[in-house]
Amino acid sequence: MRETLASTNDEARRLAQLGAADGLVVLTDRQSAGRGRRGADWYAAAGESLAFSIVVRPTEPKALWSRLALAAGLAVAEAAEACAVEVGIKWPNDVWIGRRKVAGILVEAGHDFAVVGIGINVNSREFPPALSELATSLQLASGQVQDRAHVLRSVLNHFGLRRQQLASGFDELLDGVRLRCVLSGHAVSLITASGTQHGRIEGLGPGGELLLRTPTGLQRIIQADEVRLA
Ligand code: BTN
Repeated sequence: MRETLASTNDEARRLAQLGAADGLVVLTDRQSAGRGRRGADWYAAAGESLAFSIVVRPTEPKALWSRLALAAGLAVAEAAEACAVEVGIKWPNDVWIGRRKVAGILVEAGHDFAVVGIGINVNSREFPPALSELATSLQLASGQVQDRAHVLRSVLNHFGLRRQQLASGFDELLDGVRLRCVLSGHAVSLITASGTQHGRIEGLGPGGELLLRTPTGLQRIIQADEVRLA
């Protein structure tokens, strides 16, 4: 545990490049430059949230590494449920309570390792104005102060199991994500590199891709910059 780091993902990457073993966890109480997906900042109040990164050295082919994001999202959802909170997964890996985000995940791949960065709002009670309508915490949702060490252990245990399911066992992982998928059945706007598409989400395909029904047919979405519920 380090008191302050710029970003646990950066530190985990540095250590992985120096040969850190699979499973190493970098944890800090305060990030001065926490990062989200698509270059966004990640806000987390010191002492109230969890910010950590796991070094993973997958034995599976690199084409399957993107599934780590699903495994991590599901692991966080399962840990949140153990705190008696009902959560959903907004594909690929945001964890939501109602329509507010409680956790975010940033997976970054290196040559022979991946870094799985996880931020969870555990005991946050207030957020900056820009986030106040968008974010929530386990404490706010459960009405109880949560033990951060316990939540961390729970996520790591669930992730340890789910990451074994990237190849064989992926159907089981996917069932867990499908069960909690907040987008299924909803109309969305989906922003990708090639433009914005509108349609209805029919669920997740066998590879974990998003199935978007549009007037021109069924699209299989592997990556999106943003998915907005209409
Ligand atoms: C997102 O929702 O955009 C992803 C947020 C990921 C935040 C975590 S906090 C721990 C790790 N270190 C970072 O700099 N980012 C991730």
